[in-house]
Amino acid sequence: MIIAPGPASRKLGLRIAEVLHIKATPIEFKLFPDGESYICYTEDVSGENVVIVQNTCPPQDVNLIRLLLLINTAKDLNANSVTAVVPYFAYARQMRRSRPGEAISVRTIIGLIEKAGADRVITVNIHNTSILNWFSIPVQNLSAIPLLASFFKARGLTGAFSFAPDDGALEANREADKILGGGYGYLDKERDAITGEIRIKKKMFDVKDRDCVVFDDIISTGATMEVAVKTLKKQGARRVYAACVHPILVADARERVLSSGAEEIIGTDSVPSPVSAVSIVPIIAEALKRKA
Ligand code: R5P
Repeated sequence: MIIAPGPASRKLGLRIAEVLHIKATPIEFKLFPDGESYICYTEDVSGENVVIVQNTCPPQDVNLIRLLLLINTAKDLNANSVTAVVPYFAYARQMRRSRPGEAISVRTIIGLIEKAGADRVITVNIHNTSILNWFSIPVQNLSAIPLLASFFKARGLTGAFSFAPDDGALEANREADKILGGGYGYLDKERDAITGEIRIKKKMFDVKDRDCVVFDDIISTGATMEVAVKTLKKQGARRVYAACVHPILVADARERVLSSGAEEIIGTDSVPSPVSAVSIVPIIAEALKRKA
């Protein structure tokens, strides 16, 4: 097995290779003057089990095209197998048609990855696990929530209340609660498909004078996390931390979450960011080892 670190996940790919004590094959990248991507495997990969590590975080479309080029070229160069490690799976939130005529984009993306020649996909906390059923190749969805919860435990937050900003993140909160042990709850949240406006149903939680951690898969604009943090603060929570697997942090999302009352935002290095304090390398390395 060899690692092919894509341009969106170079550091992550090199680190995975280091942990597994395997070779990282150098790949050359550049942009042509008209904006097209160029990739070149500079060493022979024929007969190899190639593990491409290439995230599809913003700029999603550019990173997706590079992922497809990496997969398809490895296949074309006679790699024995191609595994695509895509920690943040772009377009996963576009998984249902809420208006007639809308694209179910994630299904198109899965089709492209398969058509390019991937034999297996590894992702991390995909937005909705029902998407996994749309793959016709083996796919593994790893969870980084135990890593995040362990980070807070090591910070002395044992007994903190784990909170999900919506029922979609409830499973993540069950996982976190197994480590933090302070109970868990979730908000009944609805987002307007057109305006993006978030509405919540009033609910009371046992958080008075307690520390809380809000766990979510993604912080994008920060709107969801803002509502969750404010809800807990209004109900008397002492300290509220914001945790996410994929810190996309669009525009002023970080400031937005902090000014809503969060002590700190902690994310993983699935998406490199100033809050990426927890590494997903161990779970990816473990998943690759199990297969090897
Ligand atoms: C939604 O269901 C997701 O789990 C996240 O809560 C959401 O995508 C975060 O987006 P934003 O930060 O823009 O509210």
